[in-house]
Amino acid sequence: MAADLRLSDAIDRVKPSATIAVTTKANEMKRQGLDVIGLGAGEPDFDTPENIKEAAIRAIREGKTKYTPSDGIPELKEAIVAKFARENGLTYKTSQVNVSPGGKAVLFNAFMATLNAGDEVVIPAPYWVSYPEMVLLCGGTPVAVTCGAETAYKLTPAALEAAITPKTKWLILNSPSNPTGAAYTGAELKALAAVLLRHPQVWVLTDDMYEHLVYDGFEYKTIAQVEPSLYDRTLTMNGVSKAYAMTGWRIGYAAGPEKLIGAMRKVMDQSTSNPCSISQWASVEALNGPQDFLPGFRAAYAGRRNLMVEGLNQAAGIVCPKPEGAFYVYPSCEGLIGKKTAAGTVIDSDKTFAAELLEAEKVALVFGEAFGLPGTFRISYATSDAILKEALVRIQRFCGSLS
Ligand SMILES: Cc1ncc(COP(=O)(O)O)c(C=O)c1O
Repeated sequence: MAADLRLSDAIDRVKPSATIAVTTKANEMKRQGLDVIGLGAGEPDFDTPENIKEAAIRAIREGKTKYTPSDGIPELKEAIVAKFARENGLTYKTSQVNVSPGGKAVLFNAFMATLNAGDEVVIPAPYWVSYPEMVLLCGGTPVAVTCGAETAYKLTPAALEAAITPKTKWLILNSPSNPTGAAYTGAELKALAAVLLRHPQVWVLTDDMYEHLVYDGFEYKTIAQVEPSLYDRTLTMNGVSKAYAMTGWRIGYAAGPEKLIGAMRKVMDQSTSNPCSISQWASVEALNGPQDFLPGFRAAYAGRRNLMVEGLNQAAGIVCPKPEGAFYVYPSCEGLIGKKTAAGTVIDSDKTFAAELLEAEKVALVFGEAFGLPGTFRISYATSDAILKEALVRIQRFCGSLS
């Protein structure tokens, strides 16, 4: 008989990732030979640019294949310092920079280094699925604040003020957002900052992973740039995964106060050690090298966003706002709740909508409840126009078939 394994209380607090579950299910169905369109995964379909790959190959040939300092090589930290100065008007020293194995690990290391039992983390919902789970894993308390379509899925100063308590340790901002694509203007960030200035116990973790993916001339800003008085309590996080199509290379980074960065390094010293040395050298090239492929990526994503917004708004019962950035659209399916499929199943939730759509039309998307906002769903449009057009035909057919 297998020995009974008692799991940690920490792991028992945590849910598995709904986005990974959808992608795994879609891939399984594909392996069974079914014609599934997967719109669940948040991953660019572009290949990593050639100059970045070459830098990695060079690093291997030059023997840069050994341990590095746990939180990154000095050359990459210098490239990150230069990036923050060039693109965000933020001044950091290399001692204020952390490099981790992916953006996800940056967040985890920051929470591991700072959260104690009872500490609250304010998370605007819809949120990226991992935020509340990581907070729970690290012993903190996630406090979700609903930000619906009426505020364009953005946190308002009043909602922030209402969510803050003496126990609030962090506010997470994510702009452009996964899952909604919504991005905050400089003025909107300034208004949120005004609230934070009244609450000196609150630190800001801004997840800027999608910074480069904004459309229609949207002017990107990050909060420490807009309100320099928050610099001393902001962790500005970013990574190469989304902008440079480098999800598999696993490099994320952040800059903030030295005490926090030092504590994050201690977490890494005693757990993962350094991110892959070769990926770090590739990331030096990503940040310091030519950025000329970015406008092409942006133009392709903007075109796909327009295609999806238009096509989804033509589907009966779906309302799809036009987001400023990222590669997601985040429509409402409230108009379909209570309707029935041809087989007689009642669409009683976004979860049932997603399950029935997958069953009937083989389109995989992620239901909104996973992101903390029922009655909605997320589509990742980081795939070809041809696939997106076919997905729209199927979604429109499915919605039209409900009665
Ligand atoms: C908002 C957001 N933050 C962080 C990450 C993690 O990025 P990485 O793949 O570098 O760990 C993702 C990836 O999906 C994301 O969407």
